[in-house]
Amino acid sequence: MARKASITGGTKKVKLKPQKSREIIRKYHVLLKKQAQLKKEGNVAGADAVTSELEKLGGLQMYQQASISGQMEARGGDSSKLLMNWLAKYSKEPAAALLEVGCLSFDNYCTRSNYFARIDRLDLNSQDPRIEQIDFMKKPVPPDLYDVVSLSLVVNFVPDSGLRGEMLKRTRKFLKPEGLLFFVLPEPCIYNSRYCNEQSISDIFNALGYRQIEYKRTRKLVYWLLKMEERSGPYPKICKTLVNDGAKRNNFCIALS
Ligand SMILES: C[S@@+](CC[C@H](N)C(=O)[O-])C[C@H]1O[C@@H](n2cnc3c(N)ncnc32)[C@H](O)[C@@H]1O
Repeated sequence: MARKASITGGTKKVKLKPQKSREIIRKYHVLLKKQAQLKKEGNVAGADAVTSELEKLGGLQMYQQASISGQMEARGGDSSKLLMNWLAKYSKEPAAALLEVGCLSFDNYCTRSNYFARIDRLDLNSQDPRIEQIDFMKKPVPPDLYDVVSLSLVVNFVPDSGLRGEMLKRTRKFLKPEGLLFFVLPEPCIYNSRYCNEQSISDIFNALGYRQIEYKRTRKLVYWLLKMEERSGPYPKICKTLVNDGAKRNNFCIALS
């Protein structure tokens, strides 16, 4: 059972069945992409109409409730459980600082682990006063950088391939040298896309100066732990390229411009 913030400041329970959650998430992503495309084309009226459709669906608030329900179904909990298992392998000393980008709930494995001396959490739509409400792309880089940045199921929310690349690039600014990026995508983004596969995502990681140190694929999700390496100079351009044709494939893509 999910909870929805009410206008009176309390919370109202919203029952979402797994199928309903999936439907909301899918529709929301389709509409976001449509809206981004219409904006690109300068079709203001069309984009406004899609905004109304998004609102009718329940907006970002409902998308987040569906994602919370989906977490239980797809992963038996949030993905920070795997992050904690991986971190235990790589560092004997607790990592000092974690930034959780796209943080749905304060109460997750990272919080409960007591592993971090500092956790900063942010989301476009905060569900908790301890989660900063801000767009990661606009968040100023703090003087104290992070040992770990978590970017779990956020890049696939971004409706444009170039902006997805920009988001990945931006993670580097927040990490200490040799910091770790925990990155998660829905499985079909890599294994059923016309424009993205294992090779192309690995090319993106290499271009950005990230080295894969852990990887896990489940029926629904793909997880990576990436180590940031030193790099200099401009990023190479990686354009949208057809890697797998097929009528039943999706169009997920990450591009670097
Ligand atoms: C599917 S949820 C994933 C939440 C959680 N990280 C997880 O793995 O379950 C995606 C979240 O990312 C947030 N988000 C998307 N783009 C963002 C951005 N540019 N800045 C901050 N949060 C963002 C959305 O508001 C949403 O709450």
